[in-house]
Amino acid sequence: MRADTPGVERLPDGPGRDDELAALYAWPDAPGPTVRANMITSLDGGAALDGRSGGLGNEADQHLFAVLRDLADVILVGSGTVRAEQYAGVELDGDRRARRRRWGRPASPPPIAVVTGRGLDADLPLFTDFETKPIVITPRAAAGRVPPAAEPLIAGEERVDLAAAVRTLADRGFRRIHCEGGPALLGQLVTDDLLDECCLTIAPLLLGSDSTRLLPTVLAEPAGWVPDGVRIGGAHLFTRYHRSGR
Ligand SMILES: NC(=O)c1ccc[n+]([C@@H]2O[C@H](COP(=O)([O-])OP(=O)(O)OC[C@H]3O[C@@H](n4cnc5c(N)ncnc54)[C@H](OP(=O)(O)O)[C@@H]3O)[C@@H](O)[C@H]2O)c1
Repeated sequence: MRADTPGVERLPDGPGRDDELAALYAWPDAPGPTVRANMITSLDGGAALDGRSGGLGNEADQHLFAVLRDLADVILVGSGTVRAEQYAGVELDGDRRARRRRWGRPASPPPIAVVTGRGLDADLPLFTDFETKPIVITPRAAAGRVPPAAEPLIAGEERVDLAAAVRTLADRGFRRIHCEGGPALLGQLVTDDLLDECCLTIAPLLLGSDSTRLLPTVLAEPAGWVPDGVRIGGAHLFTRYHRSGR
């Protein structure tokens, strides 16, 4: 596909692009929690290149990734991604703090809330390099393995009960729950029918079946999604969907 293909609008890329993107990706005005995922896939459903997702992206994707973070109340992520991508806390410069304020969010960074069944090492960058305290979501069985630097959120007994975790995040004031994967966590959210929105970037690559799959889960029946838009940025497609019936 050519970047100037008629009929496919470009993602905003001029001087006011941040505010245009914020309007394009506005959160629904719902009283309860909304769970949105932002993921990138190859054309054949691959989710990582050499163990990381970064190799799939481009400049437009990195830019949108940061804008979507700045529109969120909290960033939800699985422990596999925190380890693979060496997540640290969200770091904001002056421009990003200003735009968060403009978009009705606190100027401070949103916390990262990581889901783990086994607990996490306290020396990961997420627990040593942050401004806003990270949240660790565990089942009761792993309550003792939450690093002291983190805020614990206990949901479930042996496994994390994701529905309970989402409710508790909303009770703590985090209604716009922005999930950055990885595939295992995304699969569980879809299986539990907790995912309301999906922003899916499609990279113009084929990775083959050895690559990490975008959705490594078995669904009892196909789940329907409604397209909310498609744009092109560089050679990548930026799609947005919401769950059918919501
Ligand atoms: N393409 C993309 O958009 C994208 C996005 C993010 C990541 N990635 C890539 O995907 C890979 C990592 O993804 P992943 O699927 O292996 O890991 P993941 O989804 O980030 O994390 C999986 C882990 O989350 C915890 N978890 C999830 N649901 C749980 C539940 N209900 N109860 C308890 N714990 C639960 C478990 O942690 P414990 O093992 O700690 O118990 C599980 O091992 C990396 O290569 C990364 O680069 C791609």
